[in-house]
Amino acid sequence: MSTPSATIHAAVRTLRAGGLVAFPTETVYGLGADALSQAAVEGVFRAKGRPSINPVIVHVRDVERARALAASWPEAAEALARALWPGPVTIVVPKSCAVPGIVTAGGPGVALRVPAHPIALDLLGAFGGPLVAPSANRSGRVSPTTAEHVRSEFPSGVLILDGGPCQAGIESTVVSLMDPARAVVLRPGVIGLGSLAEILGYEPGLRGEASPGPVMSPGMLASHYAPERPVVLAGRDQWRALASHRRVAILALGDPVEGIGAVSVRVLPADPAGYARGLYAALRELDEGEAGVIVVEPPPESPPWRAILDRLGRASAPRE
Ligand code: TXA
Ligand code: MG
Repeated sequence: MSTPSATIHAAVRTLRAGGLVAFPTETVYGLGADALSQAAVEGVFRAKGRPSINPVIVHVRDVERARALAASWPEAAEALARALWPGPVTIVVPKSCAVPGIVTAGGPGVALRVPAHPIALDLLGAFGGPLVAPSANRSGRVSPTTAEHVRSEFPSGVLILDGGPCQAGIESTVVSLMDPARAVVLRPGVIGLGSLAEILGYEPGLRGEASPGPVMSPGMLASHYAPERPVVLAGRDQWRALASHRRVAILALGDPVEGIGAVSVRVLPADPAGYARGLYAALRELDEGEAGVIVVEPPPESPPWRAILDRLGRASAPRE
């Protein structure tokens, strides 16, 4: 899949002028802006309504360009990058002074990733510099996995490079190497802890389990990745009772649903990769219907489902 060069050139012109360009990655669509321009990054925060305490990921073309934005590049970063980039892992390392403070929300670490998508790589190559690209949704909402989703998030318009539906469907795994001897996963994602352990030689910590302390990654906070409708996790044995007094939309796992009286139903595959790929589109569809509540069948509590359980937990968390 590649984009006509005229489209990429238009996108680069927009970025050079300090504007925003939404582009596909293998995980979700990102809302891109020049990472080295404070004003351009401010535009991203404004468009998303993102709190300034929530830092943004910097996307680069290759490992060399990542290293150039780091004040130090630990061996573990090199190992993860060599094994997994381009790909859905984001590595947090001490930032160089080239990175504006707004990008890291004033913090000492910068989050870096090389996305595995031909359009994203074409854009990064043609632009030449690093691009911040948080997910292309308004803050707190479900990440977009199609160009149509992005359009619906920003009705007043944003330039979108359309790459069709994203392959992975949920966000990258964010790993902090601020302590180079002890990797910590700040946000579970497409790459599982087992794969990270194989590369690192030890199982990384998981934020929340491993280290109490100040919030290091607000994407780990409650109520995020959330549809407009409330989301409830409930097994099949509860559906009939729920549907008897509310208009429910159901997100089922694997098996078809019959005779519950739901307003709408989506069934996702019972394998984690297939489920992740369809999750956000399904949540958006169910959110558009007549239902008052989205009922989600809980996936198994096992490691391959960890990132999905994390997102569903945040989608169903009480709202502020
Ligand atoms: O898959 C992805 O990572 C997508 C695509 C577009 O690349 N991007 C994405 O960005 O999900 P965003 O901004 O929606 O989520 C970034 C996550 C948040 O949890 C944020 O708090 C964390 O990464 N993060 C970003 N910079 C950080 C930093 N310097 N230190 C710690 N956490 C950081
Ligand atoms: Mg996001």
